[in-house]
Amino acid sequence: MAHLVGGVSSAARVLPPLDGEELVVVRSEGPWIWDRAGRRHVDTALGFGGTVLGHAPPEVVEAASAALRAGPLPAFIHAGEETAAAAIATHCGPLSQVLFVSTGSEAVHLACRAARIATGKSRIAKMAAGFDGWLDDVAFGAAGAAEAAFPGNARPETDRVSLLRFNDVTDAERLFAEQGDIAAILVEPMLANAGCLVPDAGYLEALQRLARQHGALLIMDEVLMGFRLQAGPSSQLWGLDPDLVMLGKAIGSGIAVAAVAGRPEIMRAFADGRGTRAGTYSGNPVACAAVTSTMALLDRADYPTLLARGDALRENIVASFAGAGIEVSTSGYGDVFSLWPSATPPRDYAEAQRMLRPDWSQALHLALRREGVLVMPSGYGRLYLSFAHDAEAMEMLERGFARAAIAMRDAAAA
Ligand SMILES: Cc1ncc(COP(=O)(O)O)c(C=O)c1O
Repeated sequence: MAHLVGGVSSAARVLPPLDGEELVVVRSEGPWIWDRAGRRHVDTALGFGGTVLGHAPPEVVEAASAALRAGPLPAFIHAGEETAAAAIATHCGPLSQVLFVSTGSEAVHLACRAARIATGKSRIAKMAAGFDGWLDDVAFGAAGAAEAAFPGNARPETDRVSLLRFNDVTDAERLFAEQGDIAAILVEPMLANAGCLVPDAGYLEALQRLARQHGALLIMDEVLMGFRLQAGPSSQLWGLDPDLVMLGKAIGSGIAVAAVAGRPEIMRAFADGRGTRAGTYSGNPVACAAVTSTMALLDRADYPTLLARGDALRENIVASFAGAGIEVSTSGYGDVFSLWPSATPPRDYAEAQRMLRPDWSQALHLALRREGVLVMPSGYGRLYLSFAHDAEAMEMLERGFARAAIAMRDAAAA
């Protein structure tokens, strides 16, 4: 009898079998993944965005290995922790105070705690269909959950969380008129886990203004988008001025680490005992070494070229499908985007729900797998590119999509 519940520890990692065969990964490096059957695939899932430098960047592996050899869990303050915090802080402007935890979900939890302490208010306003981790408070309203669709048009709420409609400023204004107890608005730079729904021009600025007017904080959940568009938070690239930012995934190159960066006056609560911070593995030496070496590499990374390469791929995919008589569109940015079986991408969650075609997305995943290309199989899935996606990987992606488009056309005609 197998012992691992459902065969995997995180539900999002399940893939459908191809011709009766499971895909089991044995190794990953750069843009590549090798499976148990010895096949090499070009990867676009990239540890759910955890590896913007590509899998197993040698410098990070070396730094983390050295930290491991020096002892992975000394219990007391260790030499690498302040260095890693400084490496993050130098990329975050006024958010100069940093705390490390091991997962993005914990970072969100900590940021919400900080906001409640700083404001004396208790309620967090989060986006319906936004994904801010899987802990109880904020798992409410994730994409696919019944409440994310605002059933009956009433605002879904728990004792601690209220949902907001993404890209709807009036709805945010209404919330503040209804509720005096909002500690923070919690929002991603785009609703990545609902298929890369991008904010309308001025939307995030309007949220920031409303939060400030009503004595609430703006928390940007950049666990996914931080260090994706520049070496730092995406929100700051766009001129926003959040109070707290959560970072994860890209900052550790695949090693379990996440961080909260915040204004000193807010983060002080964790130093003076008003807020609990803990975690056996929080800020451990291996995680900190991975962060410090990743930051050094990202400082030298050529983001404009990566984003342009991704935008060219997006155009190429749309053209390949059009050539096969199938309308598709993309949403998101050059190195993290979603593919939609529609002429234009959705603007909000209601449109995304209408455009979602899980069978189509699964069929695309399988058609691409035959071509040695790995994409997430779900309709709200994303394609990530890394700095390690070289000409060979990009050509394989373009060729794979062109062939998959033809296979999907032929399957539909059969
Ligand atoms: C925007 C966002 N926030 C939070 C999380 C939770 O991070 P973790 O899976 O590391 O707990 C994720 C994970 O996908 C995410 O995409």
